[in-house]
Amino acid sequence: MNPNMILIGAPGSGKGTQSEKLIKQYSYGHISTGDLLRAEIAKASDLGKRVSSILAKGELVDDGTVMELMASRCDLNNNFYIFDGFPRNIAQANLLQNFLSTEQNNQMAIYLKVDIESVVKRISLRRVCKCGQVYSLASTPDAEKIACTKCGNAGTIIQRKDDMPEVVETRLKIFADTIEPMLEYYKSKQLLHVIDASLTEELVFKNISDLIDNFRIK
Ligand code: AP5
Repeated sequence: MNPNMILIGAPGSGKGTQSEKLIKQYSYGHISTGDLLRAEIAKASDLGKRVSSILAKGELVDDGTVMELMASRCDLNNNFYIFDGFPRNIAQANLLQNFLSTEQNNQMAIYLKVDIESVVKRISLRRVCKCGQVYSLASTPDAEKIACTKCGNAGTIIQRKDDMPEVVETRLKIFADTIEPMLEYYKSKQLLHVIDASLTEELVFKNISDLIDNFRIK
């Protein structure tokens, strides 16, 4: 049995990158509240119109909206999930805890710990396709010119609007203001594992996989 996985980390710490690998390896369902919100904005739904300017400013969407969006995409009876970018504060953590029926023995919280200088650099190098595929100019310097390796479309790989430096500053400030209570919350429930996310993608993945594999043989 896989644990439900709560991935916590600064913007650019690698939550999406690791989620993609974990989904392939362990058949997880993936709940990225950032992806869900961006999809609503892309289809110009009422919700999308309501939250568009909030994401553009790098602020947090209200807890009720993200909770509703998250819950509508989860089928806990039939799958295990990676919660990527949710929760972001204690109120959301409590909502998630209730949603997961407070069964702590089927959860694991992983904090992808990396210094702020590194995430600022990673974010400045990040490019994304409209289909959601993430690239880094560090490994794919011509990312903006190539056809997407996932959807095959050309001219669709761009910089996220909220990856502009002034917005990143706001996102990092919110992260700095909220992370400590979140870590305390999961530590007090003995669910917290800290992973050195400054390592290569492959090593970070190996270290998370080891945790999951140990959990599965318990
Ligand atoms: P969201 O999309 O969740 O953004 P985030 O949490 O800021 O995280 P990022 O997507 O920026 O980074 P990541 O950790 O996934 O890094 P990645 O793997 O891409 O949220 C966006 C917005 O939506 C929020 O600001 C808010 O407005 C709203 N929102 C979302 N959830 C919400 C919630 N719960 N409540 C309220 N509002 C919410 O990696 C980054 C780059 O680094 C990539 O280029 C990647 O290739 C590279 N990289 C990854 N790992 C490594 C490595 N080990 N070494 C070198 N490079 C690496």
